[in-house]
Amino acid sequence: MTVDQMGLGLTRASFVIFLFLFLASPPPSSAAIGGASGEDYIRPLPRETLSFPWRPKLSSGPQQVHISLAGMNHMRITWITYDKSSPSIVEYGTSPGKYTSSSQGESSSYKYLFYSSGNINHAVIGPLASNTYYYYWCGGQGPEFQLKTPPSQFPITFAVVGDLGQTGWTKSTLEHISQCKYDVHLLPGDLSYADYQQHLWDSFGELVQPLASTRPWMVTEGNHEKESILMFKSGFQAYNARWKMPYEESGSTSNLYYSFEVAGVHIIMLGSYTDYDENSDQYAWLKADLARVDRERTPWLLVLLHVPWYNTNWAHQGEGEEMMAAMEPLLYAAGVDILIAGHVHAYERMERIYNKAFDPCGLVHITIGDGGNREGLAQRFRHPKPEWSVFREASFGHGELRIVNSTHAFWSWHRNEDDESVKSDDVWINSLVSTGCITEMKPEYRKVLMAP
Ligand SMILES: *[C@@H]1O[C@H](CO)[C@@H](O)[C@H](O)[C@H]1NC(C)=O
Ligand SMILES: [Fe+2]
Repeated sequence: MTVDQMGLGLTRASFVIFLFLFLASPPPSSAAIGGASGEDYIRPLPRETLSFPWRPKLSSGPQQVHISLAGMNHMRITWITYDKSSPSIVEYGTSPGKYTSSSQGESSSYKYLFYSSGNINHAVIGPLASNTYYYYWCGGQGPEFQLKTPPSQFPITFAVVGDLGQTGWTKSTLEHISQCKYDVHLLPGDLSYADYQQHLWDSFGELVQPLASTRPWMVTEGNHEKESILMFKSGFQAYNARWKMPYEESGSTSNLYYSFEVAGVHIIMLGSYTDYDENSDQYAWLKADLARVDRERTPWLLVLLHVPWYNTNWAHQGEGEEMMAAMEPLLYAAGVDILIAGHVHAYERMERIYNKAFDPCGLVHITIGDGGNREGLAQRFRHPKPEWSVFREASFGHGELRIVNSTHAFWSWHRNEDDESVKSDDVWINSLVSTGCITEMKPEYRKVLMAP
């Protein structure tokens, strides 16, 4: 037995002990077998969790490479090495093998019980041209990677998927996403389902690298990122270390909420698992961020978060109520077009809603927590279906949001039917800018935004 195999044994043993002593497991979703989804689709059987052989990663080559947007015309490159002397540097250029620029980054590592992470490197590159392929390598070694920067103008396409995990269904979801032409990947929480077993963050990093090293992945946190241990670990340690998002670039003091702009779209990533009440830092930041939005520059305004505010599935009923009570008036006053959530392991698309009723100037709500995690699907929907819920189905899949111009966007949901991606729901969405809601917003709502 090698030292590394022993290391794994310790990790597992400690995991079991701590599980019993300290941890409340995230609540399981409703049973995966036999429930009626309310729709007439016959679902393929669940797929197994992918098994990743424990491979000691002692080589210095860059691993788990992923990229994310980091302020106007910049990209953050993140990778892991197991050689402390490997430099935290990215070299890049617009032709393969010809690196005309380089950028110095920084590296850190963390410990979690008996687990020690590799060196996690972050380097920001840019300014980069838009809609352009760049070739890069990390730490002056290993393979060359290729990325494409997003366009600076419409149209732009987002791939959207939540609650991804690492099962056979995750693999098929990722394969379908890779067949779509998209610019930026959006993930509203629940990434690896590592759930305290830190090496599963590493296997997740490897699983997503083929996609996440080529297009920016913009994520926000879910409950499975928390991994807190009472009086011992405050939470989000692995997530914050590995999935650093542009929060400093957007004036936030926490990696758990931030915003970014790309090609005429302002996107706000909120945190369902950090304070959101009217006295919280997140609330103050959100208000300031909304005040910075210029609808001439970014006609589309989107919000992503983990726990849905509107949800007609029995799973996680009412969990988003408190956050909605605090923040829905702000988002409505600012004229947010679409809110995308995860958490519930099913797909649901709703009409424009505000204050629990249909409202033509409200937000389109979409739940897309059906990436393929190991907990299975949330199959039981409430009946009767409220009028504002348009389409709901418990199947794994992903979404695509193509913003065509300042007035029109096309949303589609693609179900993983066996090994093919089947478009199962789609709709044209008109921006609030185009329907007059922004200019006609009632003064009492404006006041919500302007209040100190
Ligand atoms: C925006 O795109 C839609 C859908 O393709 C089209 O019908 C509309 O004319 C476009 N609007 C503008 C201002 O180009
Ligand atoms: Fe969740």
